Amino acid sequence: MSRHPDEHGGPERVERLLHNMETYIARVPGFRRAHARGIGVRGHFTATPEAAALTSAEHMQGDRIEVVGRLSNSAGNPYNVDRGSAKTGIVMGMAVRFALPSGGNAEWAALSLIDFPARVPEDFIKLASAQRRGLPTGLPNPARIVTFLATHPHCLRGFRDIVAAPAPRSFATAAYRGLHAYYLVDAEGNRRAFRYHWEPAAPHDPITPEEHRELPPFHLLSEIRGRLAREPAEWTLVFELAEPGDPVDDLTKHWPKDRRRVRAGTLVLDRIHEDQQAVDDSMFDPTLVPPGIELSDDPVLHFRSEAYVESQRRRNGETKPSIVLE
Ligand code: HEM
Repeated sequence: MSRHPDEHGGPERVERLLHNMETYIARVPGFRRAHARGIGVRGHFTATPEAAALTSAEHMQGDRIEVVGRLSNSAGNPYNVDRGSAKTGIVMGMAVRFALPSGGNAEWAALSLIDFPARVPEDFIKLASAQRRGLPTGLPNPARIVTFLATHPHCLRGFRDIVAAPAPRSFATAAYRGLHAYYLVDAEGNRRAFRYHWEPAAPHDPITPEEHRELPPFHLLSEIRGRLAREPAEWTLVFELAEPGDPVDDLTKHWPKDRRRVRAGTLVLDRIHEDQQAVDDSMFDPTLVPPGIELSDDPVLHFRSEAYVESQRRRNGETKPSIVLE
């Protein structure tokens, strides 16, 4: 099946994306163009027998797998605070690098969102441009965003999800979703489309607007440092299995709620990474999957990989200001 031109990536489209992100959202030398402020962590992952039955991927066979994670505020500007308005918060990210027993890595990067505001790369590029700040207020012009959403109605739910993100108490109390479909391939070669998410073991603990106002602007990093010094943070990996006919190349479309869910494993993050510079310099590529997991045709999934490589190339070639962000 041939693709619509907006679904393709390529260097020209990556260039326009980064131009728009850097010009209209933020560019601070040395920092990621999105998820600029974050913290590297370490821990381990253990898959369940149910996961091992569904995929031959080596990190899903039940052995203890060492992981490096990065927990982040999704803003492109590292100086952006960990809150939105008095009642709302920010979108958070959790990236996980699994050390494969045979060497090499598998990587995933998920968001504290249920919906995403782009179905194809071009949606994201245009949304970045619609956020440009104008004279005389120095704020984004709401008319531009309204026009974008009116002409891209499939992006509305994801946009609403971002602006209504709840005020987070901790990285450890949030669920993170992979959003894209992938395929599980078992030892017999059977293929099933799935989506994954990380469900926190810590109870949902909403923060009141009063508490929110009192919190220091960058409270998430100091909170997770304090928490991991006392106790590990845990998540259950959940696979949602598609049925024939469910859309596998469009992350803006949900699957019916009754789809089979499988407890696929436990992630334990138990300490701050000893080399923050190394985690900062690295990149988490959601297309880096081992045999036993395959990529869907979701154009956003493939574009992310291209965009992250270029973001990493740019930031690692720049001098990063030495600033304390906690
Ligand atoms: C067209 C869609 C998207 C674009 C253009 C985009 C762009 C970016 C860029 C430029 C970075 C910084 C990469 C780096 O310098 O290492 C980034 C980081 C990140 N993105 Fe995306 N992104 C998109 C969609 C998504 C989706 C769908 C998810 C999750 C389901 C996601 C989760 C993350 C996370 C967790 C990070 C931080 C990774 C880390 O800690 O290194 N992004 N994104």
